[in-house]
Amino acid sequence: MEQRAIKIFDTTLRDGEQTPGVCLDIAEKLEIAQALAKMNVDIIEAGFPIASPGDFAAVSEIAAKIRGPVIAGLARANIADIDAAYNALKGAEAARIHTFIATSDLHLEYKLKMTRNQVLDAAEAAVRYAKKYVADVEFSAEDASRSDWTFLCQIIERTIAAGAVTINIPDTVGYTTPAEFGKLISYVQKNVSNISQAIISVHCHNDLGMAVANSLAAVQNGANQVECTINGLGERAGNAAMEELVMALNTRPDYYKAMAAIDCKHIYKTSRLVSVLTGVNVQPNKAIVGENAFAHESGIHQHGMLNNPLTYEIMRPEDIGLSHNSLVLGKHSGRHAFEDRLKDMGYELGNDKISELFVKFKELADRKKVVFDRDIEALITEKAADQAEWYRLVYHQVMSGTHNQATASVEIETSQGVLKQAACGDGPVDAMFKAIEAAAGMGTMLKDYQIKAVTAGEDALGEATVWLEKAGQIVSGRGLSTDIIEASAKAYVNAINKIVNTGARGEEDMMAEEK
Ligand code: KIV
Ligand code: ZN
Repeated sequence: MEQRAIKIFDTTLRDGEQTPGVCLDIAEKLEIAQALAKMNVDIIEAGFPIASPGDFAAVSEIAAKIRGPVIAGLARANIADIDAAYNALKGAEAARIHTFIATSDLHLEYKLKMTRNQVLDAAEAAVRYAKKYVADVEFSAEDASRSDWTFLCQIIERTIAAGAVTINIPDTVGYTTPAEFGKLISYVQKNVSNISQAIISVHCHNDLGMAVANSLAAVQNGANQVECTINGLGERAGNAAMEELVMALNTRPDYYKAMAAIDCKHIYKTSRLVSVLTGVNVQPNKAIVGENAFAHESGIHQHGMLNNPLTYEIMRPEDIGLSHNSLVLGKHSGRHAFEDRLKDMGYELGNDKISELFVKFKELADRKKVVFDRDIEALITEKAADQAEWYRLVYHQVMSGTHNQATASVEIETSQGVLKQAACGDGPVDAMFKAIEAAAGMGTMLKDYQIKAVTAGEDALGEATVWLEKAGQIVSGRGLSTDIIEASAKAYVNAINKIVNTGARGEEDMMAEEK
């Protein structure tokens, strides 16, 4: 059966990073970009270079280090943005400048304060300018789904004539419906004379829960690129979830007659990595990657599954890289067994990383009777490989009880020496956080805190997440330990390191006002 090839444009690092409360440092962005490249995505939108020095540096780093996918940088339709995008993308093997301007009358009147003719001129000029730098220019008509269809066709025709090779039609506010959006894509195909010179892309937001359905309707009507994010992250209710789009195409080739070249075996791992690094949990009933996506609770279903998995399963867990192996490791397991387990779980890691993980595994196995895949996965994703550690927790002690106020003391190693502090608090975790804050003196505010067990069992590994605010910017940090106080302390210190690494961009971050 002939299948159309659909390009996957991943915007986890740009639109996904606009998720409220998400702030990734360069090492984390690079690790996600590496995972996306392993999945074989066609295009990685690495960021919005003019937005901040941190964004610029992250796009440069990704452009310099990632090979395989095209690396895209976002730019508004103006010279400064396009210059910044080009400068950040210079090291890329294949670079794309993605420039955009809004096209709905609402945005023209209230945001841009421009006439339609001015917007047409600005879009054309931006594409021409970007074209001087790179051949691969994408133009997006922001708020396309609420724009006048005739005007939309006009701007698309002008930008293709100016050199745009991909035309993106976003449903910026998640307003459209599958039938309506399908009609719009078909209308554009019929009413833009030079449309055959460009690829049609769509970028759907999930405000009404239809981002994936809308994207698939667009594919059925001729879109050959979809923009999406891992776990559906993104502005407000998020973007179309990549794993859902790809698995829909894969599971129903008979219906869509289209395929994406994604290596689906990496879906689960990448979803976990993104969840851990962003601090955004995946809801248990989330399609494809949720904890319950392949769980069968009812007896009738279990009975059917035992006879033939196809009775209740339209996809196999192995398809997305979820291993079924229940083999567990313990403190007597050697390096070979550990390495084999990593391989079975689909991780291809270098020798140094395996050695580092093996030490952590042995420490864990000393504290915990059996080590499950979930524990190993947690150790792997504990923090991004190259994340700089300005502060390192080297000692902690807490005391608390029925009649005493909780107290904590900590020692934190820095390049300037060891910082020691003690503090009282409302419970051991509060005392610990206050002691760390007093030692580091960062002026941060605790916004949220979560602790959960990685697996079942009394000796389970605890996974703590801490959200800290500094200058209007919220960052999350994560810590692991079988001791939940230690896990919490590590999470707090990890968040402080991220504040330093991201330079806590603050309220002035221009993304906020523009997007
Ligand atoms: O949602 C949107 O319209 C965007 C554009 C910049 C593509 O994110
Ligand atoms: Zn968007």
